[in-house]
Amino acid sequence: MSKVVLANDHGAVALAARIKAHLEERGYEVVYLGTDKEESVDYPDKAKEACEEYLKGGYEFGVLCCGTGIGISIAANKIHGIRCALVGDKFSAEMTKRHNNPSFIAFGGRVAYHDSVEDMLDAFIDASFEGGRHQKRIDKITALEG
Ligand code: RB5
Repeated sequence: MSKVVLANDHGAVALAARIKAHLEERGYEVVYLGTDKEESVDYPDKAKEACEEYLKGGYEFGVLCCGTGIGISIAANKIHGIRCALVGDKFSAEMTKRHNNPSFIAFGGRVAYHDSVEDMLDAFIDASFEGGRHQKRIDKITALEG
């Protein structure tokens, strides 16, 4: 069974529950790191926790959520070896898999999306990385990590 790691701050508790249910419906084992509470937690802490879990290996990808998806994706992208794509529609969800092959995708629990997050997840999951010139560009992103 393919594994996904999922984490969120207090700004995306309900959204994370929906994402977990959808991924499980699609047959994924979801390692959920919370928070499932409304009390405030700091999104950089949740990003760190989820990225460290992902880097242990065995994960197909990860999902990070905060109120906008912005803070938690910025934090994740500071971590060596992680590429996190903040997506806002089905098109960008599909294209980021095809071209950027990110380790994580991010969503905002307080954002009104035109496409449902479930549809964006499906677009991401069902797309395939194209490699070739896109791998070369990813290698250049990795080189920026120093
Ligand atoms: C928390 O209030 C909020 O700032 C956070 O969830 C996120 O939107 C940050 O980018």
